[in-house]
Amino acid sequence: MGDLEHPFQSFLNALYLKYKPLTDGALASYIPELAKVDPDCFSICVVTVDGRIFEVGDADQLFTIQSISKVFVYGMALAEHGRDKVLAKVGVEPTGDPFNSLIRLDESSKRPDNPMVNAGAIATTSLIKGTGATERLNRMLDMFRHYIGRDVYIDMSVFMSERSTGHRNRAMAHLMRHFGMIDEKIDEALDLYFQQCSLMVNCRDLAVMAATLANKGVNPMTGDRAIPSHYIRDVLSVMYTCGMYNFAGEWAYKVGIPAKSGVSGGIIAVVPNQVGIAVFSPPLDAHGSSVRGLKVCEDLAREFELHMF
Ligand code: DON
Repeated sequence: MGDLEHPFQSFLNALYLKYKPLTDGALASYIPELAKVDPDCFSICVVTVDGRIFEVGDADQLFTIQSISKVFVYGMALAEHGRDKVLAKVGVEPTGDPFNSLIRLDESSKRPDNPMVNAGAIATTSLIKGTGATERLNRMLDMFRHYIGRDVYIDMSVFMSERSTGHRNRAMAHLMRHFGMIDEKIDEALDLYFQQCSLMVNCRDLAVMAATLANKGVNPMTGDRAIPSHYIRDVLSVMYTCGMYNFAGEWAYKVGIPAKSGVSGGIIAVVPNQVGIAVFSPPLDAHGSSVRGLKVCEDLAREFELHMF
């Protein structure tokens, strides 16, 4: 735990009090299990690259990671296959469309635009190596363990909820199979994608994961390397341009640091060589990002001049 007198800690305490009363936003309901969470949950955590932790709210509260997983699985695919092979299957262009859009899949290159939207993430996940579904899942969980620094597991209810209702994702996967962007193991790739989205994390875990990216791929709490350092640039570039979906431009303009949101209400942001930031608060705006999370990141960036430019 960080020094209570540290400016980060006192600012986090003030942000918590400032935004706790906010009632804007709505819970994600298209995944039925996500509509059951408490909208009042709120936590903020900052982890520095030298391993100091500052947090406020219930940083132990577990939730599913959802789209924030896309960042780390993209890194894993790069580490397994290299840039050229991954780029052949998933582009690096922002879409300007919602995260679950499939319109552009049927246009131009037939390749999903980037690994942060659902189509691109399913394509990335389909690249994960392993003999059979269990080995692929175990290798993915191992990758997450390096970032988080403790054992991790999948929430079965959320996984089943997504698996039985994720028809848009299934449609995307079939379209990508049609264009040869993913192989014939369509259901296996989708299961692994739903499993990665159902990984249980807390706000502190997310901040440690973000700090690992800030620290060139080494977990600052354990000293464990989670990703080769030369792929950090790839991961942070697509986070910066595509991580906030059709809000990415405004985010880059206002906040100015790579970030990724998820529909369970998490947001991570990375200040290279300095800190990882995470916020958890389930009510979402129209783009699928946490309302309190956006405000907290904006305020933090302004106060500590975190904008990259
Ligand atoms: O596939 C989905 O729709 C969800 N499992 C993840 C989407 C998500 O988190 C988008 N984030 N804002």
